[in-house]
Amino acid sequence: MDNYLDEELEFLPDRIVVKSDKTQVMMSWEEPLMRTMAEIVAMRRGDILEIGFGMGISSKAVASLNPRSQTIIEAHPQIIERAEKWACSRAKTQILPGKWQDILPTLGSYDGILFDVFGGLGQREAFFSELKKHLRPGGFATLWLADDQEIRPELAAVLRAQGYSWNYRKVVAIPPPDCTYSRSNLFFIPAIH
Ligand SMILES: C[S@@+](CC[C@H](N)C(=O)[O-])C[C@H]1O[C@@H](n2cnc3c(N)ncnc32)[C@H](O)[C@@H]1O
Repeated sequence: MDNYLDEELEFLPDRIVVKSDKTQVMMSWEEPLMRTMAEIVAMRRGDILEIGFGMGISSKAVASLNPRSQTIIEAHPQIIERAEKWACSRAKTQILPGKWQDILPTLGSYDGILFDVFGGLGQREAFFSELKKHLRPGGFATLWLADDQEIRPELAAVLRAQGYSWNYRKVVAIPPPDCTYSRSNLFFIPAIH
């Protein structure tokens, strides 16, 4: 969806969808996956960067692990509003409104980086080609692989060129029958280091 950031969203208890055509942006069944992603990036506590607030599931999981700081980049106006409301009582959490493409170059380095961007499949190589600049030595990064069981070759090449390797945590989660973006029940979450 090219103009996603201009679309009006609808917030339901178990999902966020694009109002006009019901495209699914995020769903609550992903909670076990988001928790695992949070555990990977907050392994060293430290300073955590997240891209994409969505329903705030991974952000809440990161916050519960009590990192030194939590920085969240979010680009959709309605989700920014929700993220800011959630973060306003949290001294260690900062919301950076805007597209990661504009904000990332202004940022320093982190102990953990979580990339979960709606429409981000074609953005992964561009984002992770900057990983060495933003992930501290000894830090961990992760991303949502959808139903893929491994990091795709194009992204793997970008990561290997910077000296990174990774292993996978396997997580069981059950998408509801009307989920349009996942059919798997077993998900592979990479811990990139
Ligand atoms: C799948 S959701 C993230 C889910 C989140 N991890 C959670 O636990 O709920 C993807 C998010 O990426 C955001 N997004 C899309 N394009 C973006 C961009 N260029 N920069 C920053 N955020 C973006 C969307 O608005 C959406 O909130």
